[in-house]
Amino acid sequence: MVENSDVGARSAIENWAETVRKEHEQADSVRTDEPNTDHWKKLAHRFAPANREQAFQDETFVAVSKYVKTDDSVLDVGAGAGRLAVPLAERCASVTAVEPSKTMQNRLGEQVTAWGLENLAIIGSTWEEAVVELSDVVICAHVIYTVEQIEPFLRKLAASSKRDVLVVAFEEPAMANYFPLWKLVYSEARISLPSLPELKDVLKEMQIEFVTEPLPEWASRPFADFESAYQESLARLFISEEKASPNHIHNLKAALVDTLVPSGDGLHFNWARPHRPWLVRWSL
Ligand SMILES: C[S@@+](CC[C@H](N)C(=O)[O-])C[C@H]1O[C@@H](n2cnc3c(N)ncnc32)[C@H](O)[C@@H]1O
Repeated sequence: MVENSDVGARSAIENWAETVRKEHEQADSVRTDEPNTDHWKKLAHRFAPANREQAFQDETFVAVSKYVKTDDSVLDVGAGAGRLAVPLAERCASVTAVEPSKTMQNRLGEQVTAWGLENLAIIGSTWEEAVVELSDVVICAHVIYTVEQIEPFLRKLAASSKRDVLVVAFEEPAMANYFPLWKLVYSEARISLPSLPELKDVLKEMQIEFVTEPLPEWASRPFADFESAYQESLARLFISEEKASPNHIHNLKAALVDTLVPSGDGLHFNWARPHRPWLVRWSL
């Protein structure tokens, strides 16, 4: 049994693993969807560049591309649907995108075709299992939160880079905007995953010298309509419509009716707040 007094005695790396484990255990205790189905099925569209113009204006792309030269090779770990990898491939010599989710890989493949890119290779694997060559720059945006064994994950990022490692992470837990909804549906507080403060502690413990740079805040992206909000909330709360208790479905629908408010050309939660991402960078 873990005593409270032990918590302070654990290292930042152990605390990270414990937090991720607890968060996953809580998800498993409520989930009715299949843990092995691709979590990104209903969410992948959010991680693809909307169009060429928007892709080059993406603030994370603008921030990371400052560190990428035209003759560089870039490795994008957890590339998703190519928000960064795709426009970067137009600005550098080559991009290798490591991405385990089939849904994300398919979206990324569509983007590669649509952009006519011949210098972007997709490795369908987790980072832990991926076999890659050295790249000039290694990028990893919004991936670390769910990684239980954070030290080997970060060490491998560093070992795969010839020059710079760029990790992008939110200041607060990425899913914070869903915490009030979780409480309304499941009547318990959601355990939060690690984010920027914990990453800094881990890097210090690993004796990696890094610099941080705030990126512009992300306004909470509105849902197109009620149905999109419902579908995305099902995924975020691990609910299968077929298998969940009618009570949880009822709670979710009622919570959405009560808390979604018009925003721009869509809807967002009345508690929605902007999220600030940070760029955490170190050089080899
Ligand atoms: C929130 S998305 C971010 C995608 C992209 N980096 C971006 O910023 O738009 C997180 C991505 O990391 C991937 N991912 C999660 N765990 C991973 C791991 N252990 N190794 C590699 N990728 C992982 C997921 O499949 C997902 O596509």
